[in-house]
Amino acid sequence: MKIVVTRKLPGKALNTLFEKYDVYLWEKDVSIPKEVLMKEIEAASGLLCLLNDRIDREVIDAGKNLKVISNYAAGFDNIDVEHATERGIAVTNVPGVLTETTADLAFALMLAAARRIVEGVKVAREGSWNGWAPELLLGMDVCCKTLGIIGLGRIGSAVARRAEGFSMKVLYYSRKRKPDLEREIGVEYRDLHDLLKESDFVVITASLTPESEGMIGENELRMMKPSAILVNVGRGKIVKTDALVKALKEKWIWAAALDVTDPEPLSKGHPLLEMENALVVPHIGSASFQTREKMAEIAVKNLIDVLEGRKPQYIVNPEVLGDIGG
Ligand code: DGY
Repeated sequence: MKIVVTRKLPGKALNTLFEKYDVYLWEKDVSIPKEVLMKEIEAASGLLCLLNDRIDREVIDAGKNLKVISNYAAGFDNIDVEHATERGIAVTNVPGVLTETTADLAFALMLAAARRIVEGVKVAREGSWNGWAPELLLGMDVCCKTLGIIGLGRIGSAVARRAEGFSMKVLYYSRKRKPDLEREIGVEYRDLHDLLKESDFVVITASLTPESEGMIGENELRMMKPSAILVNVGRGKIVKTDALVKALKEKWIWAAALDVTDPEPLSKGHPLLEMENALVVPHIGSASFQTREKMAEIAVKNLIDVLEGRKPQYIVNPEVLGDIGG
């Protein structure tokens, strides 16, 4: 059986694929071009891809024998899951394993933006540091403030747990209320507008869906406190980029710290890369050695399980499993 893998992955997990299958590996450190992917996928039974590979209808249809698309990510908005399901192709992902690592990054971004860490490093490095000064790089307190989490899934809950250590009041908004979690981790539900009005920090951990796309635009940003900080570790398209640039320029909010942006990557000179009150990192939510290796192990195992007729640990469209004997 042929397997297409769209990038080298950390750790040894890919060796298992090389031992079992005929593997085509895209070795360059840039995304595989669509035409190469479409050609290679023609005879493939499995595809192991990244969150920035667009697996649309055309790519899926090029994979005439395709049985499984294993995404090396928790999110799967890069895949036309509906079409894969129509074609009986299993789509798998790797949630769970990256929860804590991504929650760590969300907190790191909150702290870095609030305490102006990046600006501080710049001042120290550039030699413009003239000694301790009462008004040098004043930021915002984190302790005891109100944190509003948009999307209380695995990552959102892990962020809420960390906030307890900072004595924060935690609010959340999600499509469905989660009374069990409210009791378990002590979070309070708010509708989106109330959460935006009350929070000192708004952290987006939601996944990209038709409902969440563009959820934070001008109206929503104008509702936030002028002292508030917006953090996004969900998906870039949840926030309207132009509206955010305007909000930061005109100081409707105090700062934004983003692991995800729309588009990705931002081109050199993009306003979000130029403004002091915008802190952008290049989608590194899950980027620890340990997590990226575990993600590779699970993505490989998901793929093999489907091909060998077992139920994989994580499946996005379980309804297709009947077709593949899972
Ligand atoms: C994912 O896996 O969806 C995350 O965005 C990776 O950081």
